[in-house]
Parts: sequence; structure tokens; C-alpha cells
Amino acid sequence: MITTTGLTKVYPARGREVTALDGVDLHVREGEVYGVIGQSGAGKSSLIRCVNLLERPTAGTVTVDGQDLTALAGRGRRAGKELRQARSRIGMVFQHFNLLSSRTVKDNIELPLEILGVSGQERSRKALELLDLVGLADKAKAYPAQLSGGQKQRVGIARALAGDPKVLLSDEATSALDPETTRSILQLLRDLNQQLGLTVLLITHEMDVVKTICDSAALMKKGRIVESGTVSQLLATPGSELAQELFPVGGQASGPGRTVIDVTFHGEAATQPVISQLSRTYNIDISILGAAMDTVGGNQIGRMRIELPGRYDENVVPVGFLREQGLQVEVVDDEQAAAGSAGVPAQAATPALVKEGAK
Ligand SMILES: Nc1ncnc2c1ncn2[C@@H]1O[C@H](COP(=O)(O)OP(=O)(O)OP(=O)(O)O)[C@@H](O)[C@H]1O
Ligand SMILES: [Mg+2]
Repeated sequence: MITTTGLTKVYPARGREVTALDGVDLHVREGEVYGVIGQSGAGKSSLIRCVNLLERPTAGTVTVDGQDLTALAGRGRRAGKELRQARSRIGMVFQHFNLLSSRTVKDNIELPLEILGVSGQERSRKALELLDLVGLADKAKAYPAQLSGGQKQRVGIARALAGDPKVLLSDEATSALDPETTRSILQLLRDLNQQLGLTVLLITHEMDVVKTICDSAALMKKGRIVESGTVSQLLATPGSELAQELFPVGGQASGPGRTVIDVTFHGEAATQPVISQLSRTYNIDISILGAAMDTVGGNQIGRMRIELPGRYDENVVPVGFLREQGLQVEVVDDEQAAAGSAGVPAQAATPALVKEGAK
């Protein structure tokens, strides 16, 4: 639904240029909620602004719903009209809502429809329908100053939906809200995604947002995407930084000559008593160093860091047992492998890159 190839944005700045995007290849599938996470200055806002051509990319292409927007940008009047039409099919939600304070809630929602030249009656009908959809049917005549932050963002979302977009872009839509309001706004975005089949690309610096509603995620650093994939692909990727942050499991080996492994549980495996089976089958004592269980996109997923007695080469069989049970197993601390003397390939010595679309 959204594809960027080699997307590059260089801002001219006094003295030296700033490369905010450095060849971003992004692929958001139809109907998914896709989260881009990264630290301040990573280039997240630049990415989202380039996706809807609010910002002109320096190089690369942006395709939304099969239409190459970069090809339309700045190519004469006819292409300009096509670009405006294409952009009206992309809704945008902002961190600070960007509502007009002099207009009522309903009039704020009607604004994009006025620009599209929709008749007064039709605008009014549409605005009321959207207000109902976001749970603000009784606030049509209120002014933005009379609303809470969460309500303002609901208006922002309703306005973004006015042009019947197929794609919704959200730049830190919940960053200015308290945790409970954040949850309700995320739930609304999820509902809209499911009810309307809306594809959502959201930018955030909060891992909780990714955890709550994203089907897929990408990690941005210094203008590049360094990891991406569906949440379950990421969790199954040895060394994934996103997976580690989604499910932080800590814990150090209790002493030398022990094997520490991270075990990731998905679906069926999450409910099986594999650890006690492992202990009984091989008659070994297992220490749990850390664990996290959660529900992501309706699926139970968990991670556990456990310690087995003995070095890795003494634990090849138990580790194989866990993998046979369908679990993702990553060796965290293999002294021998670290020393490079055992000939056992160290898993996940470096963070792996997940290629877009990799299954
Ligand atoms: N209009 C601009 N002119 C010059 N430099 C800019 C402009 N907009 C962004 N930058 C620079 O580009 C880089 C990426 O900025 P961007 O706003 O995309 O980051 P971000 O990931 O959204 O950060 P944050 O989480 O703080 O919002 C930064 O170094 C920033 O200073
Ligand atoms: Mg930003």
C-alpha cells in the first residue's frame, strides 16, 4: 500500500547539509498498522512528511496505493491536480492536533471537504457521521478550547478521515496525551484499521505504542531503517533490537561454565509446559533469569532468559529439544563461542537485518 525506495531527504542548512533520510526502503502492506520507532532526530517525521509529499524528497520514490507520488510532484498543472487528489486519499494526524481554534469541531472536520469542493449539505452529513465514528457526536458545536487533549485528537482523526482515505499517517499522535487517553486513542486507531480496512503508518518513540497496535514495525537510526518486519518476524530474529525492547529480558549468568539462552514463545508453544519437560527429559536444573509475557496483536508471546548448567557444547541436545518444540532459541552467553575456540557458531553475534517481505 505504501512503498518507498531509496527515499532520501537532505535539508540545506547553514554551513552543512543535514541528511535526514538516507535511502529508506519501506513497505507497508494493505490493511496493516505499521509503526516506525526511533530516537529523536532519527528522521521519523521527515519520513512521514515525505510519504505524503508535504516535504519534497531529495531522491527516491514514494508509491501510495499504486500511484507514484514522486512522479506527480512538480510536473505541471495536470499532475499537480492528480497529486492533490492522491494526497486527499492520505489522512494525516498530528501530535498537536493542528485544529483551528476559531472553528467549531464540526467545521474543523468540514475544512478538508471545503477544500475538495464538496457541497455544504454533503459536508455536514459527512462531518456528523465522522463525529459519531470517533465517539464525539455530542461535541459538534464545541470549540477546540472546550475539549480535552484526547477529544481534540479524536477531532484530528475525524478530520483526517474526511476524504475517505485508504491510508492514515500519524506523527506521534499520542505523545501529548496521558497513558489512559493514549490507550483509548490507540484503540480507536485499531478499530478504524479493522472497520474501514484503513492502512495506518504511525511514527512513535514509545515502544508501548508499537506493542499495543502494530502488526509490523521498523527501527530507524540516523535516517536509515536498521530493522523491520512483522512483529512476530522481529521476535523470531536472533539479535533483533526491536524484539529485545518489546520484550526486555535481563539477567546475567550466575557463574562461569553455564549456558544462558533466550527462549521466545509464540502461539501454541506459549501454553505448553516446555521448560518443565526439558528439565525432566534431560534431568537438568534450569534457572529462570528473566521473563516477559504479553499479548501482541491478540497473540500471546513471551520471552524467557534461562540458564542451563554446563557450557554450550554440553547443551546442544537440550537446546535442540527446545527448537523442536517450535521455540525460538538464542544463545546469549556462550563463553566458548565468544572465545572462538569451540567451533560452535555463535547465534546472533550481530543484530540481523530483516529484509522487507522476508517470510
Ligand atoms: N526543515 C528542516 N530543516 C533542516 N533540518 C531539518 C528540518 N527538519 C528536520 N531536520 C533535521 O533532520 C533530522 C531528522 O529530523 P526529524 O524531525 O525527521 O526527526 P524525528 O525522528 O522526527 O525526531 P523527533 O522524535 O524529535 O520528532 C534532524 O537532524 C533534524 O534536525
Ligand atoms: Mg518527529
